[in-house]
Order: sequence, then C-alpha cells, then structure tokens
Amino acid sequence: MRVGIIRETLENERRIAAVPETVSKMTKAGTEVLVEAGAGSGSFISDGEFEAAGARISSRDEILSSADVLLKVNKPAVDEIEKMKEGAILISFLQPFSSPDEIKKLAGRKVSALSMEMVPRITRAQRMDALSTMSTVAGYKVVLLAADASGRFFPMLSTAAGTIPPCKAIIIGAGVAGLQAIATAKRLGAVVTAFDVRPAAGEQVKSLGAEFVSLDVPHEQAEDTGGYAKELPPEFYQKEQEIIRKYSKDADIIISTALIPGKKAPVLITEDMVKEMKPGSVIVDMAVEFGGNCTLSEAGKEVVKHGVTIIGFSNIPAMMPVHASLLYAKNILAFLNLISPDGKSATLDLEDDIIKGSLITHAGEIVHPAIKEAVK
Ligand code: NAI
Repeated sequence: MRVGIIRETLENERRIAAVPETVSKMTKAGTEVLVEAGAGSGSFISDGEFEAAGARISSRDEILSSADVLLKVNKPAVDEIEKMKEGAILISFLQPFSSPDEIKKLAGRKVSALSMEMVPRITRAQRMDALSTMSTVAGYKVVLLAADASGRFFPMLSTAAGTIPPCKAIIIGAGVAGLQAIATAKRLGAVVTAFDVRPAAGEQVKSLGAEFVSLDVPHEQAEDTGGYAKELPPEFYQKEQEIIRKYSKDADIIISTALIPGKKAPVLITEDMVKEMKPGSVIVDMAVEFGGNCTLSEAGKEVVKHGVTIIGFSNIPAMMPVHASLLYAKNILAFLNLISPDGKSATLDLEDDIIKGSLITHAGEIVHPAIKEAVK
C-alpha cells in the first residue's frame, strides 16, 4: 500500500498531514510512504527527516497519480482531484457542506473520501478527533494573539515604579477551545471569568482556577444528548448579552468561542457593548467563520473599532504549525490504522460507525446522506 503526503497550497497554511514520527510508524508496518519535496518546510520538517523515517521524497504528480491513500490537511483542489488515482482513499478536512464542486469531483473520480470534520465524537474515535485537537491549538494561540495585541502585562506585577494589576480576561464558551484559552490565560497570570450555557462546563472552568458565571439554563434545555449546546430562544441571548455587558466594560481581553453545531453563532457582543469597553482592550472572535459572536468582527481580519482591537482570524491552528501538524498527524495515523490495521492494504468497513459517519464519497457516489442533500 502506498501512502502519499503532498504540500498544502492553501494561503498561509503551514501544517502537514504527517510528521517523521507518524511516517516512521507507517514504514515500520510495511507501508510505502511518499512525501512531496519541501512539504514539511512550513512546520520546520526537512525532507531529510522524512527520509530518515523511511519515506521517499517524490513529486506532487507522482504522489497524486499513484497513492492508494492520500493524506491531507485541507481539501484538494478540483485540478488535484482530477490527477488522483481512481479508487484511491483520501483522508483530510474536506469542508463537505460548502464544497459541492470538490465533492462531486471526488465521487466522479471514484475516490473514497473520509472527512476529518465528520468523525463522530464517540469514545472510540477520540484519537481521530482532529476538530478537538485543532481547537486546543487555537484556544492556546488566541490568548497569545490577544496578549500581543493588548500591549499589557497579564500577571500582577509589583515593581519599584508601582504595582500593575492583573489582566482581566473573559472567555465566552467553555468547550474545547474555551477551556484551553482559560488555562492559557491563567498560566499567563490573568484573572479569568468564563461563561457557558451548559451548567456542566462550570466544574471544568472552576478546576482551571477561573470564575464561572452561570447563565441559569436548566441542563435539559442547554445540552443535547451528545453533550453539545442547544439553540435557545432569542430572548435568552439578549439576557445573556446584558450579563456579559457587566463584565465586558471592565475586561482587558475577551475570547469568544460560543457555538452551537450546525447553527449560526449566537450574537453575544453588540456594537453598544464594544463602545463601552476600555480603549486598547481586545476581542478575539473565534466563531467568526459561523457569523461571529461579536457583530463587529470581520473574517480573516484584525480591525480596531471604537478603540477596541477585534481579531477574526481564520485558520488559527496554521499559526502554530509544529504542534498543530504533530497532533493532526497523530489523528490521521489513528484513522489510517483503523482502515489498515496491518499497514499493507486498506479496507473500508461500511458498517463501522466512524467510517459511516465520515465517508463522503465512495465507489462513484456521494454516500453521506446529509452531504448528498447539501450538495445536490
Ligand atoms: P465546542 O463545541 O467544544 O465549544 C463551544 C462552546 O460554546 C460549548 O461549550 C457551548 O456550550 C458554548 N456555547 C454555546 N452557546 C453559548 C452561549 N450562548 N453562551 C456561552 N457559551 C455558549 O467548540 P470548540 O471546538 O471549542 O470551538 C469553538 C469555536 O472556535 C467554534 O466556532 C470553532 O469553529 C472555532 N474555531 C475557530 C478556529 C479558527 O481558526 N478561527 C480554530 C478552531 C476552532
């Protein structure tokens, strides 16, 4: 079985889908691994390190046309899909709901495309949960971005010239990214207050040493059976804005991560609230790609509005390529081991929950019911 890894071409993308550690595990199992020349440079991995792990450095065209399994971070472009070997397996983030052209092309090429976003969040699939690992990376990085943009110390400092009070940080949404943001802001010395609709998040927030502000939503109303937040009536969000407002006036940084899967992000920071914030304070809106938690955030940009810096960068994990690549590569390897336990051939068990949940195209068809509906 030949596994191929090519360089990512998305703008500002620095991650790669395999690292020497994972390549070494593949080659030791008897898998032939081809890596495109220079593919690891964004993550500071040289071709030599991949060769030492047993890979062969090759050309993009050779890999696309001959790999039985192609490993990627971002969805391949249509012209790349055209070059792929017919019947190959692709494991990658695919943004399947918003990529009709690529999905149709993958089906046309008879590629079995497995989407890392669609891996179900079940216990058995935890090691493949790339959305969570990337949110962990992003939750850490956003605090560093906020610290950098704020121009202030985070910890309390006593100096001969006087005492500097600690930074006041607010984290909205204490899921995967939010909890990592809380931990990072605490490590830097900030005083952290966190909000979440799910009462269950309270214990985790407190265990990180932050204050948890309960929004008084009963458990059944806040959370679905999978543990995700449910959409609440519009009046609730207005009430929540008023609660957050009491804290935001005084905050130095706000990290907002509030998200309900499959829905537009709830608006929790209005323009009026931004106007009342201290000049020089910083908001990082992680939900910007889903409409944003702040009405003034702009996707892909850092803007200053009413004296407040508002950061709405997308693809934050790519800004921390070393560990983002390492963790993603491990998620990918876990998936590869599922479909190829012996490393010599790959088979897709269509009855397996993980495969069933993440397989988008197979044998010339779009096989995932929700994606089939979305791209028709
Ligand atoms: P998650 O689902 O683990 O966490 C979201 C949290 O928001 C949950 O704890 C949920 O209960 C909470 N929440 C929902 N509605 C709320 C409300 N009205 N008030 C307070 N809390 C509320 O999601 P995860 O993985 O932590 O991702 C968070 C956000 O960050 C998502 O929008 C995701 O797309 C984004 N993200 C952005 C990245 C980037 O590069 N810009 C990278 C990674 C994640």
